[in-house]
Amino acid sequence: MRKINLALFCWLCILSATMAQVRTEILLEKNWKFTREDNSGAINPEFDDSKWQTVTVPHDWAIYGPFSSQNDKQEVAITQDGQKEALEHAGRTGGLPFVGVGWYRTSFELPQFTKGKKASILFDGAMSHANVYINGKKVGYWPYGYNSFHFDITEFLNPGEKNTIAVRLENYPESSRWYPGAGIYRNVHVIVTEDAHIPIWGTQITTPVITKEFAKVNVKTKLVRPSASAPDQYRLVTALKDEQGRTVASQEKVLSSYDQDLFTQELVVENPVCWDTENPVLYTAESKLYQGNIEKDVYTTTFGIRSIEVIPDKGFFLNGKRTVFKGVCNHHDLGPLGAAVNDAAIRRQIRILKDMGCNAIRTSHNMPAPELVRACDEMGMMVMAESFDEWKHPKVKNGYNHLFDEWAEKDMVNLLHNYRNSASLVMWCIGNEVPEQGIEGGSKIGRFLQDICHREDPTRPVTQGMDQPQHVLNNNFAAVMEVAGFNYRPHMYQEAYKKLPQQIVLGSETASTVSSRGVYKFPVVRASMKTYDDHQSSSYDVEHCGWSNLPEDDFIQHEDLPYAIGEFVWTGFDYLGEPTPYYTNWPSHSSLFGIIDLAGIPKDRYYLYRSHWNSKEETLHILPHWNWKGREGEVTPIFVYTNYPSAEVFINGKSQGKRTKDLTKTVHNTGSKESQEAFERQQRYRLMWMDTKYEPGTVKVVAYDENGKAVAEKEIRTAGKPHRIELSADRSELSANGKDLSFINVRVVDKDGNLIPDATNQIEFKVKGAGSYRAAANGNSVSLELFHHPRMKLFSGQLTAIVQSGDKAGEITFEATTKGLKGAKLKIVTK
Ligand code: GAL
Repeated sequence: MRKINLALFCWLCILSATMAQVRTEILLEKNWKFTREDNSGAINPEFDDSKWQTVTVPHDWAIYGPFSSQNDKQEVAITQDGQKEALEHAGRTGGLPFVGVGWYRTSFELPQFTKGKKASILFDGAMSHANVYINGKKVGYWPYGYNSFHFDITEFLNPGEKNTIAVRLENYPESSRWYPGAGIYRNVHVIVTEDAHIPIWGTQITTPVITKEFAKVNVKTKLVRPSASAPDQYRLVTALKDEQGRTVASQEKVLSSYDQDLFTQELVVENPVCWDTENPVLYTAESKLYQGNIEKDVYTTTFGIRSIEVIPDKGFFLNGKRTVFKGVCNHHDLGPLGAAVNDAAIRRQIRILKDMGCNAIRTSHNMPAPELVRACDEMGMMVMAESFDEWKHPKVKNGYNHLFDEWAEKDMVNLLHNYRNSASLVMWCIGNEVPEQGIEGGSKIGRFLQDICHREDPTRPVTQGMDQPQHVLNNNFAAVMEVAGFNYRPHMYQEAYKKLPQQIVLGSETASTVSSRGVYKFPVVRASMKTYDDHQSSSYDVEHCGWSNLPEDDFIQHEDLPYAIGEFVWTGFDYLGEPTPYYTNWPSHSSLFGIIDLAGIPKDRYYLYRSHWNSKEETLHILPHWNWKGREGEVTPIFVYTNYPSAEVFINGKSQGKRTKDLTKTVHNTGSKESQEAFERQQRYRLMWMDTKYEPGTVKVVAYDENGKAVAEKEIRTAGKPHRIELSADRSELSANGKDLSFINVRVVDKDGNLIPDATNQIEFKVKGAGSYRAAANGNSVSLELFHHPRMKLFSGQLTAIVQSGDKAGEITFEATTKGLKGAKLKIVTK
């Protein structure tokens, strides 16, 4: 009897386990084999890959270097930058070895995949021209390296046996304007479902009506079913859940033969809590599919209840509240980690941006990683997702122009389906500075792409970044767009408004101010395309490109012109490649545009944006540093970035006078060249003491409120002799998941803790215990030190070292040492 009960119990266990297994998703992360050698034999399951390197995906093969100007040299005239003749561009794409072929192979068993089941493989992104083979047969091809794509692999798998996957990637020379990364740099998912199931990206959720009392939630759910089964055998139960997992609405629907395999449901959520950037509340839809009474699938979609609207002359509205875009453009690379996606690194970037008051990211100039969009959903950051840097006409010889005719619509559809349920996603961007702006027929392509957006997602506005106002205002290229997005040239916004029908202007890309963290140049004058022997740009934030401007030239537009709806600054973070204005000056190989450097350390400019964008927290920041041996008695201007209206500066106790932000300066009375040279717009946003003279000691700033009351103060001091290393980690507790990261600020200070602002000491790192050393960066765009080597020189006194958790919980010890100074240790716990 007991035996029988036991058998019954086991059988029930198996039954419930199989019932729970209607959908399985695994990530193919570990134990991939990788080579740079091209060998078509690698598609065969028996191929011997034992000599290949073992890697973990996401993997960027090129980030390990070495750097060389020969890796990716381009002999071109960058016409959009005004170059008339071809120049030899070194480092335009980062100087890293991404060009060429790479092969990946791995094997996996899939016990869940039994006869009658279906399976798909989903690549979040593979750079690029991916050819995918399973068990020796070609499964499919996807050329665009930034997009997510998936294939049905049911016919290719061996049920109950080992399966071998091989992926061939190839990056062409002259195929990019920046560092694209290389390899399977985003995640690979294998999904097993029943024969009848909800396909990948198979739901579409919108919230057409939102009031305080209720929200209508429209859920469309696709069904894939065996053709022999009748539609009305299928039933979908959709439950909407709040963040606590409580069901707030649910509905059942039986499919009819008129539904064309699409369930359409409308549910009502009472007392909805809207998603916004301060309170990013998310809901989930749990879709359970039944055939008769058999559960066939359980599919989960995360979404937000929120409204977005662009109203002519009024602006962009989030949940009925006018919201100005305080946005940044970012490339996809994560500095020293390269393009290999990492959730912790992305979340750190968003934290830093949010502290600055930034509320939006433009994923320039391509599809984002799912991790970025998910983090933006969860952390409250709006996203403008972009598709292309090129349409049919080339900007680079081997770019997307070769693919456009065959692939543009497929690429758009995957982008739209992938992210159209994301609460953070508020706008689509169909292109960046495409040459079609000035070519007959260009607006037709614009309309074609915009129509695809509207067809697949009628809820979000569509824009593109245009940099040829003289053409697009006159040839209807801009008029076709739902939102006219302008890259740079803010002085044209007023004319754009007059000529265009939309009554709205977006700064889709702005500023391109250049600066190097902690590097200051004298005299302090506004300059365009200025170069120096050290290949750096001034951190006084007064230098820009031939086509661009200073931050205040944009601030003033979006404050003074009611139809200007905000901006996306080029860029939030520095990135690999595009070392403008050092086009031909190897070893320059990473950008100077970032508000934050490649190591994720804020430059001075960060505090200028913070003073303007983050109205909730105090900003009071002094520049430059105060270690100017040799400049005694020389004019050394002092700038203060603050959200207080006035401040007074004291050098060694002596007042240098009080400055107040000059609100009489407007967009209308500061447009002239003279006004720009005299920093008139800057006077409205930064406080500047242009005549202060250097003497060692203390610079103190006292800030005053509107009533002239002293409310805050700050001091910087001339640092003494270098004394010791100081460490601070952004997170001291990590998940023991083998991929979590802690970013450690490493700096050299004097005995009183003052930063040595010009220290360049080489620091050695050691990591022991429950984690490993991952990489470091110092933000110096001419440094050829390899990110993954456990040593690096400080740049302007600082760098960032990155430590990665292992799979087992424990404690990590990070140690930093350098010759002649006291080292430092830090502990990180992994759980
Ligand atoms: C823009 C372009 C960006 C970047 C930037 C540098 O014209 O859209 O990708 O090149 O210039 O200023």
